Amino acid sequence: MRKIKCGVIGAGRVGMMHIQNLVQMSEVEIVAVADLFIDNVQAELSDMGITNIHKDYHELLANDTIEAVFVFTSTDTHEEIVIASAQAGKHIFCEKPLSMDHNEETSIKVLQEVKKRGVKLQIGFNRRIDAQFRNIYEQVRAGSIGEPQIVKITSRDPDLLPYELIKRIGGLLFDFTMHDFDMARYMVGSNITEVYAKGGTLIDPGLKSIGDVDTLAIVVHFENGAVGLIDNSRRAVYGYDQRVEVFGSEGMLKAENVNQSTVEHYGNAAVSLKKPLPVFNDRYRDAYMEETRFFVQALLNNTPLLATGEDVIMAQRVAIAAQLSLEIGQPVKVDPVIPQI
Ligand SMILES: NC(=O)c1ccc[n+]([C@@H]2O[C@H](COP(=O)([O-])OP(=O)(O)OC[C@H]3O[C@@H](n4cnc5c(N)ncnc54)[C@H](O)[C@@H]3O)[C@@H](O)[C@H]2O)c1
Repeated sequence: MRKIKCGVIGAGRVGMMHIQNLVQMSEVEIVAVADLFIDNVQAELSDMGITNIHKDYHELLANDTIEAVFVFTSTDTHEEIVIASAQAGKHIFCEKPLSMDHNEETSIKVLQEVKKRGVKLQIGFNRRIDAQFRNIYEQVRAGSIGEPQIVKITSRDPDLLPYELIKRIGGLLFDFTMHDFDMARYMVGSNITEVYAKGGTLIDPGLKSIGDVDTLAIVVHFENGAVGLIDNSRRAVYGYDQRVEVFGSEGMLKAENVNQSTVEHYGNAAVSLKKPLPVFNDRYRDAYMEETRFFVQALLNNTPLLATGEDVIMAQRVAIAAQLSLEIGQPVKVDPVIPQI
């Protein structure tokens, strides 16, 4: 079997999780890893058989044997690294989002460079391939609930993130709700035309000092007339709360949390069940593996990508509008036309 020779740029929280997955995949060979603080993970990488390491990602890109790169660096570097990777002729998998910039033009320029160099770009919208959510998506497409009319997404993190990390990967809207904007559009199969976001700092008022919130309730309208409700929190004391529901003219599909165990306790006073899986890397373990497999298959067999550059632009566009909506306290229109790159 042909293996895709790849490089990994960014070996932090998410990067190391992905590297642990990628080394298990028979169709992938990790040729090199680059990170600004590579010394911190050198021993762990060496235990996985990875010894070709760099501080400067340009050295990795200069390696002609590498045909694809995985970009897992902080969001504020994605545009620069995706452009450099495309210019080096590498196919690219990049974590979401492509940018936290409120000017969409910067991201469009990145996609233009990707197109010009003829390389593939997949974005890390892993929830699209989560088994439960994918099942809803496929059933909606197959017409099992008729015309989708309402999508409801609950997405709550188990706890606050360090301010230093938020500054590099984006606040609640750009880091977290970004997934939900994509999921809402993916499920309904229509583009968002308007967003109304309300929220605040109900958990940590200090977040105001970095322009962030920890609690959000969001209403979205779709081009096909459907509506959506998204609620987010940075702290759900019972774990990582991830639920999706799509209601349509012929019924409803809903995915509840994946819990730590399916065993329920029935007693005299109450019935109890185990808490949801605690964090994103547990809850979406399989999805993280599957999204990278999707990308590798697209390179090996020219199959479709799971999420494209245009998909991330559409999610970023809603996040930018939602930020404005939060600030002005009004609904904000969103252009539903997908950019032609
Ligand atoms: N899909 C998901 O579910 C999911 C979950 C969490 C985070 N993310 C995304 O993953 C990305 C990384 O987040 P994280 O939490 O792992 O952050 P992190 O800070 O833990 O890791 C980022 C790593 O990138 C490295 N880095 C930064 N700039 C670099 C550069 N110029 N060259 C080489 N290395 C560089 C840092 O040294 C760090 O090790 C973010 O874009 C975030 O939005 C996605």
